Amino acid sequence: MEEIAFFDAKPYDIESFDAANTKYKIHYFEDKLNENTARLAEGCRAVCAFVNDTIDSAVIDILAKSGVKALALRCAGYNNIDLKSASGRMAVMRVPAYSPYAVAEHAAALLLMLNRKIHKAYLRTRDFNFSIVNLTGFDLHGKTAGVIGTGKIGLAFIDICKGFGMNVIAYDAYPNASAAESRGFEYVSLDRIFSESDVLSLHCPLTPDTKYIIGGDSISKMKSSAIIINTSRGKLIDSEELLKALREKRLGGAGLDVYEEEADLFFEDCSGDIITDDTLSLLVSMPNVIITSHQAYLTKEALANIAQVTLSNLDEFFASGANTNGKYKNSVTSNQS
Ligand code: NAI
Repeated sequence: MEEIAFFDAKPYDIESFDAANTKYKIHYFEDKLNENTARLAEGCRAVCAFVNDTIDSAVIDILAKSGVKALALRCAGYNNIDLKSASGRMAVMRVPAYSPYAVAEHAAALLLMLNRKIHKAYLRTRDFNFSIVNLTGFDLHGKTAGVIGTGKIGLAFIDICKGFGMNVIAYDAYPNASAAESRGFEYVSLDRIFSESDVLSLHCPLTPDTKYIIGGDSISKMKSSAIIINTSRGKLIDSEELLKALREKRLGGAGLDVYEEEADLFFEDCSGDIITDDTLSLLVSMPNVIITSHQAYLTKEALANIAQVTLSNLDEFFASGANTNGKYKNSVTSNQS
């Protein structure tokens, strides 16, 4: 029986992988994969890793010497792997998509919560405070949603916005004309996105071109009532500039599932710690900011798809040595067109 060393295991991972697994012996480790923990993979021909594992050349050396032949990422991104060092020594596979709906629906949840101040209302009524003073939101119907990145998640979010009766404008480095036509949205320049959006949602990847796509300059073009939603990657937003704009009331609010310095904090319980990141502490303290800790993907369906695709990537590799690199082959259909 092939054995898998599974790093950074959380209870929800164990549950979904145990449900999908029929043929592997999986060793679950709570530790993240790094130079100090890589030896735990001794005796396993496969390693399963996640977004905050460190898979640099030192780690790959240790894994290769231990006999690891396959590195199965249970996520889409692979920016944490030294691919050059892995090349020719072990196959690297991933899950390119698992549920665009999960992320798009979470973006919508952040938007609704912020706009209608559900986070405030929830706390008030728990204390039998039934006042609705200062809870006024605005109708989404008829307002303009700006979407940057119209891939799988961006299109799913656009569908939701259209359901609310919003006017949708979008920007993508590679526009999808047929999607725009069939869904009834318009591609416009970034400048128009910034100046016309009542709600701006980010669904593009983090690349050198998109780093700080929301910064001092872009925020200065936005409506002072605009709500920004980021479920993509933290570094799409310059957090210092966001904080400054919110403090100066130049923005309406921000719903963030990702944060540029999230690596040592998100996914962990830091409630007993002193948080030394002042920007994060100030953002958390604001009434018009909602932060969730990279949980947009966290639905039963997404977890099941992640487990199924990760294990079928390994099945394929161990059966034939092939690695189609986690080609999207599960039950979720792409809604690209
Ligand atoms: P996708 O690859 O289907 O779509 C990305 C879109 O961004 C493409 O249409 C691409 O053309 C566009 N794009 C690329 N460069 C651009 C640029 N410079 N400016 C504007 N658009 C650009 O990816 P998908 O599945 O929709 O995911 C989007 C992002 O969501 C991922 O990159 C990832 O960062 C994030 N994500 C977050 C999760 C969470 O739990 N918070 C879970 C999964 C993904």
